[in-house]
Amino acid sequence: MSGLQALAPLIAIDGPTASGKGTVAQRVAHALGWAHLDSGALYRMCALAALRGGIALDDEAGLAALAGALPVRFGDGGLELGGEDVTEAIRDEAVGSAASRIAALPALRAALLGLQRDCRRPPGLVADGRDMGTVVFPDATVKIFLTASAGSRAERRHKQLIEKGFSANLADLLRDLQQRDERDSKRAVAPLRPAQGAVVIDSTHLDIDETVAQVLRVYRHRVRR
Ligand code: DC
Repeated sequence: MSGLQALAPLIAIDGPTASGKGTVAQRVAHALGWAHLDSGALYRMCALAALRGGIALDDEAGLAALAGALPVRFGDGGLELGGEDVTEAIRDEAVGSAASRIAALPALRAALLGLQRDCRRPPGLVADGRDMGTVVFPDATVKIFLTASAGSRAERRHKQLIEKGFSANLADLLRDLQQRDERDSKRAVAPLRPAQGAVVIDSTHLDIDETVAQVLRVYRHRVRR
């Protein structure tokens, strides 16, 4: 890591699936004029590349090699994999489920570390995921753990899917979300948990604007001291 990267301020936002951390991170980054790293998208891109390339989801060495040479580009318009815009393709539920499985593999996680840390540059970075504050950026300026009840997260996901014109069943979504929570928090490597010193924000009864405002308040309070 270069000196400049170590100095760039960083807000790490971790939390369970559908907690709204992606939207919140994007909005916080926009408010501060910083870049945004959606680390879950990297795991999803690996999963998509593995599914397409016929690499088994338990082939740890094969997946780590794939992740280490992932042809990713964070373009203005979206996320590119080998020159193809995969912004939509990686949101598929099957890709999300495969991402959750391969994310349990230590060699694959290690292979993605450099790519993530390289995103830390002035004027600053807002990084969201599961292990931003615990593993990838343990020296983050501010660490946020954003959560919400499983029921309200399932309802939010349900609303999003219906708005996009997909059919969705609330009970199925809740079960899938609970299974994913269980996998993400029980895995041996980089399990989902609040980092030491993280500020926990429960957004069950907060809307996006209120949540963004809370994160910005925590950051401004921290840098004033
Ligand atoms: O946030 P998401 O749903 O896009 O993430 C997809 C999967 O990737 C999720 O099941 C957990 C995993 N993930 C992870 O293990 N570590 C991260 N920093 C980000 C995502």
